[in-house]
Amino acid sequence: MITNNKVKNNLPYRRKRREGRTMADVAFDAQKIAFAPISFQAALALRNLGILQLLNTTPADDKTIAKKLKLSLYAVQTLLENGIALEIVSLENGKYALTKTGWFLLCDPMTRANMDFVQDVCYLGMHSLQDSLTHGKPTGLKVFGKWKTVYEGLSKLPAKNRKSWFTFDHFYSDIAFPEILPIIFEPAPKRVMDIGANTGKWAKKCLDYNKAVTLMLVDLPGQLNMAKKNLKKYGKRAEFYPTNVLDGKAQFPKGADAVLMSQFLDCFDEKQIISILKKVKIAAHQNTRIYILEPLWDRQEYKAATFCLNHTSLYFTNIANGNSKMYSYTQLEHCVKKAGLKVEKVFDQIGRFSYTLLCCKK
Ligand SMILES: C[S@@+](CC[C@H](N)C(=O)[O-])C[C@H]1O[C@@H](n2cnc3c(N)ncnc32)[C@H](O)[C@@H]1O
Repeated sequence: MITNNKVKNNLPYRRKRREGRTMADVAFDAQKIAFAPISFQAALALRNLGILQLLNTTPADDKTIAKKLKLSLYAVQTLLENGIALEIVSLENGKYALTKTGWFLLCDPMTRANMDFVQDVCYLGMHSLQDSLTHGKPTGLKVFGKWKTVYEGLSKLPAKNRKSWFTFDHFYSDIAFPEILPIIFEPAPKRVMDIGANTGKWAKKCLDYNKAVTLMLVDLPGQLNMAKKNLKKYGKRAEFYPTNVLDGKAQFPKGADAVLMSQFLDCFDEKQIISILKKVKIAAHQNTRIYILEPLWDRQEYKAATFCLNHTSLYFTNIANGNSKMYSYTQLEHCVKKAGLKVEKVFDQIGRFSYTLLCCKK
């Protein structure tokens, strides 16, 4: 039997006083985690079935919602009761209304990009997360195909899943790019190498920003084929170098005055990052500026941002490649130094997600 004294001395009870939270709060937080996948699907259904949109205009009762959306009363009631539990909707005088969280789920583009990415890219694979962690392999990727990394299969993903991947990937760097363009072009580089150029979105921004610059795009062949189509109108100002940077013999082309790696190094483990940076060093001349743009989880202003980045790490574990993650500043700086490069300048708080731009040199 547990006596009062024993209850007082057990760990959660002592934590209650330290954290200023009750046992009931703690138990509720634990249940939120226990049911998280179901909560996620409920929120997605509330959004995708049009219930949140309908309530955004005006509060309504369950029968009206069911009739307007041609859903069963059972479906509407079950979802809305979960919506109350998740504080997505509130219930007053028999009418449901959207809460601020509900509005965010419906209208905030970042939340939408994150939810679609989790549903269309991560959800099915994540069932095998523990296997990925113990084997160092992206075991969830088998949901889409037999590739070693998601990057090999990116251009072949089903259209809906590919769209969610690209929307997620571009959402964050798109906001950061306009802010870094003046920094990168301040020393007037004639040739800029974009490693991990993807579909050429950033290269296009550079080519438009400075009419004299030549872009050297490096990525896997599948991605560069998409980039070639997107950059056709720039003719010889866009050069393409299909390369698997993990190939031991692969080298980068020489002659770049600036090198950009945006959201690129997070695709690799520390050993691979050091090896890539060593190859960048070989290709660089004495004045080449080497820019690394990353959202670093220890440099975030908002808790929500750190939360998203730490969860994104597990996408790398389970779907992307099995061995990379979102890094901290200390980890990245360690790799830069190990590769024999110097960090010359650090620009923080770039874009909505507080990206960090490291400017390095030989
Ligand atoms: C996360 S995306 C970043 C794209 C873009 N730079 C941006 O900021 O939005 C990473 C890019 O690195 C490329 N990549 C991953 N592994 C690679 C490899 N082994 N060799 C060459 N490129 C690779 C991917 O194809 C992808 O286009």
